[in-house]
Amino acid sequence: PRKIIIDTDPGQDDAVAILLALASPEDLNVLGIVAVAGNVGLAQNAENALKIVELSGRTDIPVYAGCARPMRRPLVTAEHVHGETGLNGPDLPSPTIALEDQHGVDFIIETLRQEEPESVTLCTLGPLTNIAMALVKAPDIASRIAEIVMMGGAYFEVGNITPAAEFNIFVDPEAADIVMRCGAPLTLLPLDATHQVLTTRPRLDALAAIGNAAGAAVASMLEFSERFDLEKYQSQGAPLHDPTVIAYLLQPEIFSGRLCNVEIELASELTRGMTVADYWHVTDRHKNVTFMRSADAEAFYCLLIEKLKKLP
Ligand code: BDR
Ligand code: CA
Repeated sequence: PRKIIIDTDPGQDDAVAILLALASPEDLNVLGIVAVAGNVGLAQNAENALKIVELSGRTDIPVYAGCARPMRRPLVTAEHVHGETGLNGPDLPSPTIALEDQHGVDFIIETLRQEEPESVTLCTLGPLTNIAMALVKAPDIASRIAEIVMMGGAYFEVGNITPAAEFNIFVDPEAADIVMRCGAPLTLLPLDATHQVLTTRPRLDALAAIGNAAGAAVASMLEFSERFDLEKYQSQGAPLHDPTVIAYLLQPEIFSGRLCNVEIELASELTRGMTVADYWHVTDRHKNVTFMRSADAEAFYCLLIEKLKKLP
């Protein structure tokens, strides 16, 4: 199985991504989960991560807390989307497992140094603060990363927190800029892809009908996140963002896109955090990111439901 670290700010959609990964031990070896500030503050996100690990029954997975705020900017959160706990919807019990003592950034550095070069993939579901801090603290790790697969950004679909920017990149654009330039293979699952895997009524019903605790929790989480997005987008269902990262690792053929230059806007207040993607190769700037523009929604939900069936 492929070794991965999940860096996350759970978040209902982060929670579904974590469950999908933990339900796939034959393909994915989750070395650890690291929380970052994003949807809500760090302490709450870290507690949410523990709750999800517990729900999955995989209490052997270590959970770490990383950075409590972005590199340069004050933290912007998204309670308006995720609820005041970040994980509103199901009533999950308080975790019985505890956070590891080690700082999440040090866990990332130590793991990349200890494991074989290019054997560990970083999966990021939130702002890129922890990954950028690890790269700043230990530049030697860049060449040891197998791949960084990120949910973030948008190009044709533009923004969801401002007209120009997607939330994860907007919250810590300086961190995103460091990651985009780090030299490791990068894959981006932007809003362009995530807005194609909509949580329609039949799909929510199918998740609820799985019949286990994980399926019931996922259905209830996604019902909660729908309330905001359905009104906002007037669509048949809300976009499902972070699980695309894990689905990409399990079945890359669900997604299509191309290698192109992606850079982050840092200077403009109006377009701060915009992921400027040279999708049509109109410049000869370095092609640093595989930018996934579309997704096969039927195949995606088929995979999600099949895997969640394996959980308690
Ligand atoms: C991203 O922002 C967060 O609110 C979601 O969890 C997802 O990672 C979507 O823009
Ligand atoms: Ca997230």
